[in-house]
Amino acid sequence: MNWEVAIPRRIVFGAGKALTCVPEILALGGRIALVTGGDPRRARWLSQALEDLGGQVLTLTCPGEPSLELLRERLSAARKARVEVVVGLGGGSALDLAKAIAALVPGSDDPLEHLEVVGGGRSIPHPGLPCVTIPTTSGTGAEATRNAVIGASGVKASLRGPQLMPVLAIVDPTLALAVDAHTTACTGLDALAQLIEPLVTRFHTPFSDALCREGIPKSVRSLPTAVRDGADLQARTDLAQASLFSGMALANAKLGAVHGLAAPLGGRLGAPHGELCARLLVPVWKANCKALADRPEGLARYLDAAQLLCDSTHATLDDGLAVLVKLSALAGDRGLSHWGMTRSDIPAMREAGLRASSMKGNPVDLLPSEIDAILEEAL
Ligand SMILES: [Fe+2]
Repeated sequence: MNWEVAIPRRIVFGAGKALTCVPEILALGGRIALVTGGDPRRARWLSQALEDLGGQVLTLTCPGEPSLELLRERLSAARKARVEVVVGLGGGSALDLAKAIAALVPGSDDPLEHLEVVGGGRSIPHPGLPCVTIPTTSGTGAEATRNAVIGASGVKASLRGPQLMPVLAIVDPTLALAVDAHTTACTGLDALAQLIEPLVTRFHTPFSDALCREGIPKSVRSLPTAVRDGADLQARTDLAQASLFSGMALANAKLGAVHGLAAPLGGRLGAPHGELCARLLVPVWKANCKALADRPEGLARYLDAAQLLCDSTHATLDDGLAVLVKLSALAGDRGLSHWGMTRSDIPAMREAGLRASSMKGNPVDLLPSEIDAILEEAL
């Protein structure tokens, strides 16, 4: 069996670590692009700390999940300012935009040339700038992955390559203390999906397995607590670790049908990625377990996932499913139809899902009728 490990050069984890790492960021370069969410005031503490130590900061906002147009605009501003380092501070969207900018600034190419699925998909031919990721939600694991999801032509596609991998990831669980309950639930369920899918994928490795086995119990234990009481630092710490581990797991194994379908659904419906993953977790579990019925190896991995979800070596697939049903309910009961999807959209979404890169990691090739059933249940 052959496998490799791709993770950030350095990962710093702990409450309060974001501020203590400021000198380390400046050591990478003095002209800094700071990519934030829609409200740059939330990042003022970091830009101030960087400026206090002599840094020149260009703040670039990322309101919502990044589109190709937004990437082009922010990339051009970063190239013009001749930035030397890119820092992403925010949720998965801001981190992805930061990684994409860092990878592309040194060249002159249009991002579309390198975008998978909808673009040229050509590998980036030059080294990127150093990128530092500081997540403020616990969900996507984008702080530790080598791709960035960009919306283009109604689809979500990835820029991918070693240039996208951050050199430094700073995971400070105190930054997520103010995240609201619904976002906590949706991002936490995204992370849980990113821990289950790399565990059951046919591309699993001993490294990704270890991360999933450590991360799933943390998610199960702390997600309900953090949704109930956002200020619980122990629960936030567990979720921040689960999210980080999920990013490292998916970057080194692959994902599956939850993410294979969430990509085109997100592009088409504009629904938040975490909420889509939360909605798809249960139907995909059911469909995969059924499709794997005569494949003991694949099913054994689902049983492993069930036992981790239940924290019991006696747990069955149905016991695991019951835990998943309960956890998914934390994200509310809005289905795909809430975002405007109808039955007549199912065939197009199924075909787009089959083309999505994440679908290739699913432990079994699902039949069109099986994917339709997943989408029907998620409506
Ligand atoms: Fe995800």
